[in-house]
Amino acid sequence: MKTPRTQLRSSILLLALMGALCLAPLRVPLVQAQSNTLTVQVDQPGAAISPTLFGLFFEDINFAADGGLYPERVKNRSFEFSEPLMGWKSVSRGDAKGALTVYDQGSRASQANSHYLRIKAETEGKSFGIMNEGFRGIGVHKDTEYVFSVMARRVEGNATALLIDVEDADGSKLGEAKIPGLTPAWKRFTTTIRAAKTSGKARLNLLVEGRSTLDVDMFSLYPKETWKNRPNGLRADLVKLLSDMKPGFLRFPGGCIVEGRHLETRYQWKTTIGDLKDRRLIVNRWNTEFRHRPTPDYYQSFGLGYYEYFLLSEDIGAEPLPILNCGMACQFNSGELAPMDDLDHYIQDALDLIEFANAPATSVWGRKRAAMGHPAPFNLKMIGIGNEQWGPQYIERYERFARVLKAKHPKITLVSGSGPSPNDERFHFLWGKLRELKADIVDEHYYMAPKWFLENAGRYDNYPRTGPKVFAGEYAAQSIGIARPDNRNNWECALAEAAFITGLERNAEVVRMSSYAPLFAHVDAWQWTPNLIWFDNLRSFGTPNYYVQKLFSVNRGTRVLPVQLNGSAKNGQQNLFASASVEERMGEVILKIVNAEASSREVRIKLAGAARVNQTGKAFVLADASLKAENSLDEPTKVVPVEEQFSVPSGEFVYKLAPNSFTVLRISAK
Ligand code: AHR
Repeated sequence: MKTPRTQLRSSILLLALMGALCLAPLRVPLVQAQSNTLTVQVDQPGAAISPTLFGLFFEDINFAADGGLYPERVKNRSFEFSEPLMGWKSVSRGDAKGALTVYDQGSRASQANSHYLRIKAETEGKSFGIMNEGFRGIGVHKDTEYVFSVMARRVEGNATALLIDVEDADGSKLGEAKIPGLTPAWKRFTTTIRAAKTSGKARLNLLVEGRSTLDVDMFSLYPKETWKNRPNGLRADLVKLLSDMKPGFLRFPGGCIVEGRHLETRYQWKTTIGDLKDRRLIVNRWNTEFRHRPTPDYYQSFGLGYYEYFLLSEDIGAEPLPILNCGMACQFNSGELAPMDDLDHYIQDALDLIEFANAPATSVWGRKRAAMGHPAPFNLKMIGIGNEQWGPQYIERYERFARVLKAKHPKITLVSGSGPSPNDERFHFLWGKLRELKADIVDEHYYMAPKWFLENAGRYDNYPRTGPKVFAGEYAAQSIGIARPDNRNNWECALAEAAFITGLERNAEVVRMSSYAPLFAHVDAWQWTPNLIWFDNLRSFGTPNYYVQKLFSVNRGTRVLPVQLNGSAKNGQQNLFASASVEERMGEVILKIVNAEASSREVRIKLAGAARVNQTGKAFVLADASLKAENSLDEPTKVVPVEEQFSVPSGEFVYKLAPNSFTVLRISAK
């Protein structure tokens, strides 16, 4: 039985339904009115977009340097790890006997390289020696050459040659050489090995025949082919991925690695230059940082040191941005502080670095640069003071650095930090102080959920236009949570980042720099995920996040153009995010649109104020119907941009956006 109340409710429902039905013919125009219109004010170019808006954050985490970008194949090449034989094993052919002993020359050697290994081979007619396992194996490509070298001397016996081979995991030989000339004096021995097969899990052996004792040190197995074929050069496929992004800057060497767990193991640039044997190896602070990803064999050889970072920046056209320790160890670890009355030598390191980078070859530090092969200055324009520090102790130290550096080098831009979070007490305290101190540019870090990135696309809309500028220096969407090992570099995260970056570009007046972090990870040796680029000992691939970064960077434009959705400048309405710029030299309008909806949609695009447009535009579409889509070593191009042409009949046209897509449109317009 219906009560009067339910009857009344049913009648209202019926009326509403009838109303809806009656209105049905009118729905068409209503829906049309609701279809989205993006208006780009082509005739109102705004703020200049800094050439450094999109850059790179490099940190030696996840085997990014040793075992990655620095392609030395021998791990623990001079026996300086805390366990000096880590990565090495004895190897005997037949049942040869022998012994391995590590010697420490103490004060007689360079502080950096005091260990060497003694190999005592004890069986006549058979060979005994050592094997190096590389960085989760040794990568060799078929028909490619690798230069082997070692320091060696004979101590006893009459062996005159070193037997070198590279073998696959199953023991089959991939290449070998016999190097004669062993004498009682230390000498460097060099030979070239050509790999007969490709392997990512090879190993290197050095053996000696018969009864003999020899000392060995400073091993190397190095690819001949490096980026620009530089000696001690970098892994070519990885640098190519960086170079393809046309990055505006390269921030190095981190990250927390700058700080160290303790001040003693902080990053000190002076110990990373000069002859390789004089670069003082230290532990990598990511070595045992995460219990879920322990990496006890993670050290820093500094084969990739400050000189190489500067060279890399130059090679890929990026402004170098070194980040220096400011007298504070990582506050997630020991948080040790250098006393204020002991800060001068930290500041001196900064001054000397500027001299190393910028002064003529006749200066003390410029001479060292020239001796390494670069007489011309590197033209350093920016320096970071500390990484991810917080608290009044940071401000105190930053202030001291800034006072000295600004007095001596007023043109150098100083990058300061705002801590590890985008919006906590530490962040607001630091921003307040840095504003008072008239800091140049403040580094912000956010490792947040994809949702946060979507919701914060307007983060900078209301930042003050005066005062310090912003460096979005470390960010990445975390599919699960910060420092979680199950985070994925999936399309959902990349798409959310793309939406957020439209907000960076719209606010180029205040945001001067940005970089995704971390950059690199070895698939078998990472500590942190997600990362922009993954690799193993042979291959590498860019994640969907990489292609988002690349699309923004290579389509940067020189000035911001105002863009409105349905007459409002609010970004992200109806899950549509957009930014626009003009490339003044080419006369092109560049429009970036993120459709964060699972269905395709048409948008009406109005190029307001354009007198003439070219009838064909270029589109770069990065899309996948599945937000879970990822790239991988075996499927490196699952989510990559597709280039298309589209017609632009007039200054107003309709463009259909793919579901879950990031689209860059380039249109020549006057
Ligand atoms: O990118 C990984 C780490 O995250 C960086 O080293 C640090 O600055 C941040 O906490």
